[in-house]
Amino acid sequence: MGEVIAVLSGKGGTGKTSMTAAIATALAQEGCRVLCVDCDVGLRNLDIPLGLSDESCLSFLDICQGGYRLGSLNPHPLYPSLYFLTAPVNHCAEDIDADAFGEMVLSARREFDYVFLDAPAGVDAGFRLAASKADRILLVTHSDPGAVRDAGRAGQVLELMGKTNIRLIVNRVIPRLVSHMDLTIDDVMDEAGLPLIGIVPEDPDVTLAAAFGKPLLEHTRRGAAAAARRIAKRIQGMPVKIEL
Ligand SMILES: Nc1ncnc2c1ncn2[C@@H]1O[C@H](COP(=O)(O)OP(=O)(O)OP(=O)(O)O)[C@@H](O)[C@H]1O
Ligand SMILES: [Mg+2]
Repeated sequence: MGEVIAVLSGKGGTGKTSMTAAIATALAQEGCRVLCVDCDVGLRNLDIPLGLSDESCLSFLDICQGGYRLGSLNPHPLYPSLYFLTAPVNHCAEDIDADAFGEMVLSARREFDYVFLDAPAGVDAGFRLAASKADRILLVTHSDPGAVRDAGRAGQVLELMGKTNIRLIVNRVIPRLVSHMDLTIDDVMDEAGLPLIGIVPEDPDVTLAAAFGKPLLEHTRRGAAAAARRIAKRIQGMPVKIEL
């Protein structure tokens, strides 16, 4: 049985979608069978950092409603073990039948090593839909105080949902700024009340790669791409030092 990983945040725009794509492609490069599910119902965009915006992709509702089977998905053109389901656009998260979604995730768990659920911002229906089906949660924050506070709040909501396997990704870290603010990554962890699985530097290649329609790991091996590869190794249980 594979592992279901929800990628969540409190605050919007912290890099959930970018990190989901980069970590998932890193795992696929290592030969893992990976399914990425865009759970941002109505505002999907995970296809972009996966380099799939010109492909026609099934949505998770196509599977939940029984019209298609997971076996009918096409693999990613660059990564034969990576698959993708987009989010439906003409719906909102409250419309999604949580039981049917759960059934779809259960079937996916049987066929894939890792199933990534890229959630919308906030702690509302989409957050809960993704979180409730997850074995492990990656909570993505920036190092700025508002984002850290929101991550802490999201962590509390997750604990109330009975979720314990939660790890923090501190994204867009600018070392110079962090030292100027007299803030350490330990402070961020303490404030959010959660252990860390990775720190990712501020890296213009994240936006550039998406603009070129290429997965980040095809665009560069350094910076955020290298950080995502390290997180992918930690997810697989390899002891990799946490560094920028
Ligand atoms: N490490 C990084 N360095 C520089 N830019 C980044 C980094 N990570 C993400 N970004 C940029 O930040 C913006 C928001 O990223 P992304 O869409 O992944 O966030 P999100 O948390 O999924 O947003 P939303 O809450 O709207 O779903 C994008 O323009 C992306 O290119
Ligand atoms: Mg997103």
